[in-house]
Parts: sequence; C-alpha cells; structure tokens
Amino acid sequence: MFTQIEITTACNAKCFYCPSDTMKHTHMSWGCFEKIVQTEKSPTMLLLQGTGEPLLHPFFWEMVAYAKSKGHRISTITNGTMALSEIHSVLLDHIGFSLDTLDEVLAKRSGRTSPSQTIKHLLACYKHAPKKIKLYAVNYGQDLAPLKAFANEYNLPLFIQRIQPKKSYQTHYTTEPLPYVTHQCSYLENKKMRYYFVDGTKAPCCFMIDSTKVLHTKVIQHNLAQKNVPSCCTQCGELTGVKRLYM
Ligand SMILES: C[S@@+](CC[C@H](N)C(=O)[O-])C[C@H]1O[C@@H](n2cnc3c(N)ncnc32)[C@H](O)[C@@H]1O
Ligand code: SF4
Ligand code: SF4
Repeated sequence: MFTQIEITTACNAKCFYCPSDTMKHTHMSWGCFEKIVQTEKSPTMLLLQGTGEPLLHPFFWEMVAYAKSKGHRISTITNGTMALSEIHSVLLDHIGFSLDTLDEVLAKRSGRTSPSQTIKHLLACYKHAPKKIKLYAVNYGQDLAPLKAFANEYNLPLFIQRIQPKKSYQTHYTTEPLPYVTHQCSYLENKKMRYYFVDGTKAPCCFMIDSTKVLHTKVIQHNLAQKNVPSCCTQCGELTGVKRLYM
C-alpha cells in the first residue's frame, strides 16, 4: 500500500498525451497536505505527483521535509525542468525523470521540454544519488533505442509507459477500444494505493484524472461485480488486461 498526492496541477510543459493543459492549474494548500499526511497511521511511501509538475509547488521541499519528519519515504516524478541540489537528492528516496526521447526537435513537437535540460538535471542528481533515479518514457511510436542506450550507459531502470488507453487521459488523442477481459481490479481488491487529488478528494487509484468524476469505491465495486464498467474506469488496463508499464 502506498499513497499518492497530487500536490499541483500546474505545469510548464504541454505534452500532447497529457490532459494537464485542460485542467485548472492550482496547488494543494499546505493545510490539505498536512491533513492527508496526518491521516497516515504508519510510515509509508508517499508519491508526491499527479497530473502536473510537482517541483512547481512553491512548498514542494517543505512538504518533503515535513513528510520525512513523520517517517515517510518520498518519491516523485519530474519533467526535469528544474535543478535539484545535493540536499534535495538526499531528501528524496526515489526520483523519476520523464524522458521520451533524446531528440530535441521531436521532444518539442510532442510538447515536452528540452531533453538536454532534463539530462543535465538528471546527471547532477546522479552524481549524489545514482541508485535513486528512474527513467519514465511514454511510447507513442518514437524510436526508443537511443533512450535505452542512455539508460544502459548509466545503469538506470527505464520504465516504458504505453500511451494510456484509459479514456480519462484522452483529451488530445484517442485509441481503439479494447475488449474487457475481466471485471476484477487489483487496485480495489488489494487496496494497492490511496490517491488524493489536488482538492483533497480521495480515490482508490491514480487513473481517474478528474476528481468530479470519481465514484465512491463501493459503487465502483458494485458495478464491477455486476459486470458493468463505470465511466471512471472506462478502458482501464486493469480490465482490458493491458499492462501500463514495461521495461
Ligand atoms: C502526469 S506526469 C506528472 C509528473 C511530471 N510532470 C512528469 O511529466 O514527469 C507522470 C507520468 O505520467 C506520464 N503520462 C502522462 N500522460 C500520459 C499518457 N497519456 N499515457 C501514458 N503516460 C502518461 C508522464 O509521461 C509522466 O512520466
Ligand atoms: S506529462 Fe508531466 S510534464 Fe507533460 S504536461 Fe503532463 S504533467 Fe506536464
Ligand atoms: S480506474 Fe477503475 S478499474 Fe482502473 S484501477 Fe482505478 S478503480 Fe480499478
């Protein structure tokens, strides 16, 4: 079980596959964050990231320090536009960098920021905490070989994310609907995670994007038991059997 907190929906990039630009850009209040951390009864892994760039939160490092003081381990994923100091690399337990390509032109066309800037910030972190860094790429059909070679050179785990077939992500693209192969969701059955949207709304997974469209967990479970897929779960990989991440 881990907890993910969408501390901000603000972003300085416009990745074509991400719904961030259609959302109201706002930061989670300190009070809301503090309340969520205080509801955690025992130390856990806190993933500080949702649809937005976490390092843009003006109190990001205060949030990290506060959660660490309560015994939690902290993970985040960043687009690499901001530099992290040595102390920052020490405070974080896992640091994910999103990098889809090394090609500046392609990255720009996709709405991502400069790969060389991300690599510069990644390598600065690597100097202090090489084992904490992971790479995340979205596969939208680009040549992944140069990225794999870069990951190999530095011995970094590379997680390749399928472009999300889940409908809640698809404000700027569509994918062909896939058949549902099950109505069982491991996130619900194993209580894998708690997700908090920027407004403090709670959800049983991180795939719903819009807090206003989240149904109560019991309602989702009831629907799935009746073999109905509720709208907040449309085309979720849990139900189509298509895994989101691969190496
Ligand atoms: C929503 S971002 C938030 C953190 C940060 N802004 C970043 O880009 O790393 C978290 C991860 O989700 C991925 N992501 C966003 N939209 C996606 C989509 N439609 N399909 C697959 N992955 C996606 C991003 O590439 C990133 O690795
Ligand atoms: S994937 Fe990350 S960097 Fe790209 S637009 Fe979404 S939140 Fe911003
Ligand atoms: S969107 Fe629905 S089916 Fe998918 S992980 Fe979340 S609760 Fe489970």
